[in-house]
Amino acid sequence: MFYQKLLKPILFKFDPENVHDFFVWAGEVLGKFGLSRKLVALFYRYKGPDISIIVDGISFKTPFILSAGFDYNARLINILPEISFGSVEVGSVTARPCLGNDKPRLIRLPKSKSILVRKGLRNEGVDAVIHRLKKYCIKKDFVVGVSIAQTNDEKNCSAETGLEDYLYSFKRLNEENVGDYYTVNISCPNAFGGEAFAKPALLDLLVSRLSAIRCEKPVYVKMPINLEWSEFDNLLKVLNKFEIIKGVIIGNLNKEYNSLDYRNEAPDEYRGGLSGKPCFELSNDLIRKTRSAYGKRFTIIGCGGVLSPLDMAQKFAAGSDLVALITGMIYNGPSLVKLLSSYYANHLIKQNGK
Ligand SMILES: Cc1cc2nc3c(=O)[nH]c(=O)nc-3n(C[C@H](O)[C@H](O)[C@H](O)COP(=O)(O)O)c2cc1C
Repeated sequence: MFYQKLLKPILFKFDPENVHDFFVWAGEVLGKFGLSRKLVALFYRYKGPDISIIVDGISFKTPFILSAGFDYNARLINILPEISFGSVEVGSVTARPCLGNDKPRLIRLPKSKSILVRKGLRNEGVDAVIHRLKKYCIKKDFVVGVSIAQTNDEKNCSAETGLEDYLYSFKRLNEENVGDYYTVNISCPNAFGGEAFAKPALLDLLVSRLSAIRCEKPVYVKMPINLEWSEFDNLLKVLNKFEIIKGVIIGNLNKEYNSLDYRNEAPDEYRGGLSGKPCFELSNDLIRKTRSAYGKRFTIIGCGGVLSPLDMAQKFAAGSDLVALITGMIYNGPSLVKLLSSYYANHLIKQNGK
């Protein structure tokens, strides 16, 4: 209520990126001190029955992940467990530091419950993020994933340089043994080099090169959602060949502006992908089909448009093992994750007939 009725109307008057930067700053400060962490936990930490879950050998205290793109420089590791997240996916990080696209990088589309994102992989680079992650004393049962992508700059226009970029980040993360799982983001919609690795031949090359690097953590692939099932399945067929790939995140932003409930919120001259509600059905459909075609072969992290407990229930019903989100938290406030956890617990209790 406090967020929805009081804070959000004020925050939504300011530039979204400035608001985001402010929250990251505030979250980092609150995460530094035991007292402020306890205060945040008092309001926002889920304290009900155990809903922890083990996926690919990793224990998640709650099945909810802060999706890649919010804490891209790994500044919120100490505070996110206190607002009921079981995990964060840091990044996407790139081999070189990256300023991202020109401003505006984020535009709110409130009627459509979406954010237009053209951040362009803004981040401090994999080495800076590794350095920061190594300094944390990370809470037990809080899972840190790291998403890697290719640096968004003019040096990275060819598949060859893009490939080297991914390999560098992957190698460095494994050498330094940082993070609990890794995600290969092949579906960033607005960067130099485009989505070259979201094509079967180059994906095959990328994953076979990654497989040659010693890695003891689960690796997931962040999938595009604007593909017909046959094209999507062609990517899954490639991933299915590689033991290193434990799962898929379904998925990234929606590039189709016609899927907006309020089409006039995003004129054609806008650039970038849509988060939130326009991702919901597309991702659910691909999750369902992936689960049905591949059974338990892939861990599925369902992502896109989870704004309420009902959305969350549908993501799980479609076949997700874990659920990741960003936009729901921006529109409904940080208490959403505690609410989702409570509903999830009720559902588990009903399912187990307790
Ligand atoms: C501000 C913002 C930045 C994002 N940056 C990234 C990114 O760097 N890497 C990535 O894989 N996905 C990125 N995404 C996509 C999200 O991780 C997620 O897949 C998408 O927003 C759908 O989830 P949602 O509807 O819960 O927001 C970003 C999304 C937002 C809103």
